[in-house]
Amino acid sequence: MIVLGIETSCDETAAAIVNSEHKILSESIHSQLDTHRKYLGVVPELAARSHVDLCDKIIMDVFNKTDFTIKDIDAIAATAGPGLIGGLLVGLTTAKAISISTKKPFLAINHLDAHALTPRLTNKIEFPYLLLLISGGHTMFLSVEGPGKHIIIGNTIDDALGEAYDKTARLLGLGYPGGAELEKLAKSGNEKRFKFPRPLKGKKGCNFSFSGLKTSVRQTAERNAPLSAQVKADIAASFQYTVCEVIAEKMRNAIEIFSHKNPDSKIIAAAGGVASNLYIKSTLENIAQEGGFAFIVPPSKYCTDNGAMIAWAGIEHRLLGVKSDYAFDARARWSLEGLKI
Ligand code: KG4
Ligand code: ZN
Repeated sequence: MIVLGIETSCDETAAAIVNSEHKILSESIHSQLDTHRKYLGVVPELAARSHVDLCDKIIMDVFNKTDFTIKDIDAIAATAGPGLIGGLLVGLTTAKAISISTKKPFLAINHLDAHALTPRLTNKIEFPYLLLLISGGHTMFLSVEGPGKHIIIGNTIDDALGEAYDKTARLLGLGYPGGAELEKLAKSGNEKRFKFPRPLKGKKGCNFSFSGLKTSVRQTAERNAPLSAQVKADIAASFQYTVCEVIAEKMRNAIEIFSHKNPDSKIIAAAGGVASNLYIKSTLENIAQEGGFAFIVPPSKYCTDNGAMIAWAGIEHRLLGVKSDYAFDARARWSLEGLKI
């Protein structure tokens, strides 16, 4: 089976052709970072216009890079939510138009479902597995039981982890999005210099909270202003150290909850943009090893938003005989639980 996937939920216009043998046959992506950087965040209206400009070109590019033509495609999948509504409408409408004109099935994909299934595309792992999804918009532990079948066992009660990285980076005068820059800066800092709070420390379960940490980082920056290069690096390192302490504690709790229901599964995976952070990855790797689990993270370019993850989710659902209705609308919010496409 070969599926075309289209992703337009945030600030990446992306498309890919993937087959059911886990092979990414062709892919193309345009990141709008340069458009949004000066506003220090994604501007929805500008994002939507950029998707309108680029969506067809990116899809053409995907076909131009390969010998496959639209005739070889078995289904067309596009992100239908959650995300920014203007962008979602562009990708979804494009997918429906291609589907109608080629008479090939159309699939409305949940973006989080696609992130959660990506470790199966890249590493061929079996269900069920424990997944930590850490992106700019979401931070959750999922028990991934099948395509569209997830149980949320932990969630953030305020900010997403990527958001906390971006806000801290902004405070330190780094660019947007600042996660990767902050990771770089932290390497030259003293992680023990500042003691930041660990919200929900010692609490049962595996929910997260990052807003108290964010406030404490801001207060520390204000107290030490003007910030020298060394203080900035020390704040970055101490922030990242605290984040990893939090993740380690919550991961141990998540493993316990997951294992109770799935005693035979020994796989932990991570996905989402923040999962490309090496320091976080090594923390997770250690916790996984400690519990006798294998730890899987897709390559960075498949952790962040991309077309291949949407095409792969399309394959997983299509193999179960699913096809979406053309009446399926874009959804700014769309829960993972009780998912129906
Ligand atoms: O998954 P993603 O590309 O988009 C969303 O669906 O949100 O994640 C983007 C987030 C941003 O907040 C970015 O700062 C963060 O991932 N990020 C990182 C790193 N690379 C990207 N955070 C920490 N360390 C990194 N190396
Ligand atoms: Zn995403």
